[in-house]
Amino acid sequence: MSMKQHISQLLEQVGQMQAQNMEDLEALRIKYLSKKGEIANLFSEFRNVAAEEKKEYGIQLNELKNLAQQRFDALKAELDLKREQAEKQDLTRTPDPLPLGTRHPLSLVKEEIIDIFSRMGFTVAEGPEVEDDKHVFGLLNFAPEHPARDMQDTFFIDKQPGVQRPEDVLLRTHTSSVQTRVMTTQKPPIRVLCPGRVYRNEAISARAHCFFHQIEGLYVDKNVSYADLRQAMLYFAQEMFGPDTKIRLRPSYFPFTEPSAEMDISCNICGGTGCSFCKGTGWVEILGCGMVDPNVLEACGIDSKQYSGYAFGLGVERITNLKYRVKDLRLFSENDVRFLSQFTAC
Ligand code: DAH
Repeated sequence: MSMKQHISQLLEQVGQMQAQNMEDLEALRIKYLSKKGEIANLFSEFRNVAAEEKKEYGIQLNELKNLAQQRFDALKAELDLKREQAEKQDLTRTPDPLPLGTRHPLSLVKEEIIDIFSRMGFTVAEGPEVEDDKHVFGLLNFAPEHPARDMQDTFFIDKQPGVQRPEDVLLRTHTSSVQTRVMTTQKPPIRVLCPGRVYRNEAISARAHCFFHQIEGLYVDKNVSYADLRQAMLYFAQEMFGPDTKIRLRPSYFPFTEPSAEMDISCNICGGTGCSFCKGTGWVEILGCGMVDPNVLEACGIDSKQYSGYAFGLGVERITNLKYRVKDLRLFSENDVRFLSQFTAC
């Protein structure tokens, strides 16, 4: 190969020099720039170049040497910078946050309700979901032929041959059963909140489900009055739905309370002026309540001449719908992340 060809070949090689690390760079230095490297060799050959060509080759050789040096310096600077940046990295820094799961909207609302009532002195009590007739109906003053006991509403657990059971076993249809569990085992004053899942034999649709969640409240003490009930309900409604919320108690009937009422709040969507959500009435129903029927107190072993009490029961799905405008009840139990992840920020 002529010297000219050799120089242009080296020019091309040097122009494409790449180094991933310091070892690569050192190898390049040895190959091209060291005392025994390719460029130094060319300089030794330069002695043999004819005098008239010396000038031209001299210029080319110097160009090659300079280019190689520049390229080497640039690669070195690049690697130094990389190393510096790597050293600057804070290895104690927490890694990028992993997406965490979200709280279920029903849990969020349940906890908010418990929080509001705990400020009025209520504590949480729990009871079994698989219950007996006595605690779900009997002690709560349901007549034996009451339609709620009907197979249409209640899931009964089949009797098993050979298994002795004192009562019918069923899935509780309301958390009022925890009232009777508490009253038969504790002495007044009683102030409890009973959250839990309840079951009813209903066809599943956007507006009904075979299981849902309730929170029952019970307060039994001396001199508990209807005014206490009303005040507690007003406090709850305003804490939950805002200070401008109004309540309305409509006479109703439950076997275990006398008098009984259903409570409406002023529609929190239109502010009470009437919209499609409240069907133009300005009110939406949120719970049932009343004064504990003396028959219930007596059946549970509490002296109804000494004590009185109020009770209320609310549906957690209903309150959640009002708060988050969920239109289809089935969404609560489908575990679709597109639905659940909307509550990340709550
Ligand atoms: N247990 C009733 C139901 O499931 C709700 C209820 C109404 C509970 C009135 C109460 C009450 O404690 O006083 O529909």
